[in-house]
Amino acid sequence: MSDSKVVLQDSKSGQAHELPVHQGTYGAPVIDITSLNKQTGYFTYDPGFVSTASCKSDITYLDGNEGELMYRGYPIEQLAEKCNFLEVCYLLLHGELPNVGEKESFENSIVTHTLINESLLNFFKGFHYDAHPMAMMTGVVGSLSAFYHDSLDIQNPQHRMETAHRLIAKMPTIAAAAYKHRMGEPFMYPQNHLNYCGNFLHMMYARPVEEYEVDPMAEKALDILFILHADHEQNASTSTVRLAGSSDANPYAAIAAGIACLWGAAHGGANEAVLKMLDEIGDVKNIEKYLAKAKDKTDSFRLMGFGHRVYKNFDPRAKIIKTICHQVLEKYGDDPRMELAMRLEEIALKDEYFIERKLYPNVDFYSGIIYSALKFPVEMFTVMFAIARTAGWISHWIEMIADPSKKIGRPRQLYTGPASRNVPDISQRG
Ligand code: ACO
Repeated sequence: MSDSKVVLQDSKSGQAHELPVHQGTYGAPVIDITSLNKQTGYFTYDPGFVSTASCKSDITYLDGNEGELMYRGYPIEQLAEKCNFLEVCYLLLHGELPNVGEKESFENSIVTHTLINESLLNFFKGFHYDAHPMAMMTGVVGSLSAFYHDSLDIQNPQHRMETAHRLIAKMPTIAAAAYKHRMGEPFMYPQNHLNYCGNFLHMMYARPVEEYEVDPMAEKALDILFILHADHEQNASTSTVRLAGSSDANPYAAIAAGIACLWGAAHGGANEAVLKMLDEIGDVKNIEKYLAKAKDKTDSFRLMGFGHRVYKNFDPRAKIIKTICHQVLEKYGDDPRMELAMRLEEIALKDEYFIERKLYPNVDFYSGIIYSALKFPVEMFTVMFAIARTAGWISHWIEMIADPSKKIGRPRQLYTGPASRNVPDISQRG
């Protein structure tokens, strides 16, 4: 794997150190610094992992300059067009798309795991009615480990895969239960004759007192959104799952850590933040004012749904989402926020500040408008992201645990605090 070397010259001692360089299938070459500290006594400093590859991975590749995204080598556009979400889950977990038999047996396995233990339903009752559903998701998913002692040997590949199936199957059930709790409505059990997204919509919107028919368009739109959100290589929440799981913590705890990280407005919480921002802007005539706020370094306001650590071009997911957004709004009626979002995008893309910094709309810029058209409350947007991303999180967790070179994640630091000093007597403290 090592193709070349870089030489690090220490200007103080004059000593030179050779470090191997690895080239993956695609992407920038990486300097292997695993021997750096032993060779030189130095650590590296890279807040936010801006220049650091934290692991090797076979799962997802994205090229931020070209605006390309692939799962296991398949372009996201083709997956969104030709596959359903469960096929993509299978692909992420196993490395290949399922054939007819594998697809059927995977779907059957997911269906057998859609129920949650009845006593888990009591957990929701402990939450206040207005608890944010992401708070419930973090708590309830973390608690799943308490129910599956028989299959929690993380060194056993079968147990790992069973955990993956359980999580993918139960996330919509838990998410819908969180929603029903907020609404004060009875929990709806999964309907296994429905497909993955149809079942989720049913658990969300059906009520025991009346018939509910799943709308095929809503089901399809949701399925595509889930495919687009299923994985995104070493993003903050996936890296959190890997770090939490690196201590051999149980996978439910690791996924709960990922959910907590995803909740932040700089990550999965952005779709919720975009709609709040559009509501705040309110009218096309206010766009300039808000753009000025976004550019003002003394103002903490940022254009939500814009910018990405890796994409310095259009996010390929945002392009697909914008198309679905038009289709959904055509059927469910216009949303004035769509026009506002499109004008905002148009104006920002012509603005020198955004051009210079290569800030483009990201996956979350339009997804919230679709969710809103499908009548999902704003607080559920990030929950939907979490359902989809569970497939990626658990695939990364499996990849990490199965890797014989796995180590506990333990970054170093640049200490900048006080030098060693003596504790003064309390009477002498200022
Ligand atoms: N609005 C205004 N300015 C921005 C924005 C924005 N949305 N995003 C970045 N910038 C500016 C920064 O102020 C900075 O300017 P400077 O060079 O003059 O200091 C420059 O662009 C680079 O930004 P960083 O914050 O250094 O970029 P980073 O890679 O750390 O952050 C992030 C990426 C967090 C996504 C950022 O673009 C952001 O906050 N966007 C809004 C939130 C959002 O949409 N998040 C969803 C991301 S996608 C996802 O997680 C699914």
